[in-house]
Amino acid sequence: MRPPTKIGAVSLDHPAALAPMAGMTDTAFRRLVKRHGGCGLVVTEMVSSEGLVRGIDRTLEYAEYTEEERPVSIQIFGGDPRVMADAAQIVEGMGADIIDINMGCPAKKVTGGYSGSALMRDLDHAVSLIDAVIGAVDVPVTVKMRLGWDAANRNAPDLAQRAEAAGIGLITVHARTRCQFFKDAADVRPY
Ligand SMILES: Cc1cc2nc3c(=O)[nH]c(=O)nc-3n(C[C@H](O)[C@H](O)[C@H](O)COP(=O)(O)O)c2cc1C
Repeated sequence: MRPPTKIGAVSLDHPAALAPMAGMTDTAFRRLVKRHGGCGLVVTEMVSSEGLVRGIDRTLEYAEYTEEERPVSIQIFGGDPRVMADAAQIVEGMGADIIDINMGCPAKKVTGGYSGSALMRDLDHAVSLIDAVIGAVDVPVTVKMRLGWDAANRNAPDLAQRAEAAGIGLITVHARTRCQFFKDAADVRPY
């Protein structure tokens, strides 16, 4: 018998998680996947920490979920540790079982704000965000990262070790660099 998969105190009844996809994995999509038994964990589309803190309606909608989706992870992104900590408290207050930090989005409008995969270029700053979020909430905190910024800087193992030491509950790697965006095959060779 397979042991239950646990993230902190959160038990999953299936070892697969539904990857977050902005513009795709909204609450209706997630419910369909759950109803067909396709995963033990769903993750919301990425939600702007700035938008959460400012109380922007559209942002708050991205963080909405239904009870049948539980356990649910709400993914937040941003570049300011204080804003990320406040946003984490907001989504914890909305009932998130887990909070995931996005360090993988390659879009210029996100990396230009020194968030998403831009954090792979400054691991000290990335860890300061992790520390701020973990220090702000009681639920498990996880992180999603890229292999690195580009082929010459594949530093996911460094960030993963630092994230684990900081207390991160689970690490997901999108196995492309930021500069690959979504092109080429993912590099899933073991390190
Ligand atoms: C349209 C689209 C939207 C995505 N949005 C997110 C997102 O909001 N947050 C995130 O962590 N990853 C996001 N991703 C990345 C996926 O979750 C996944 O990690 C990535 O596509 C790698 O899987 P693949 O090799 O099967 O493409 C997105 C991917 C796609 C294609």
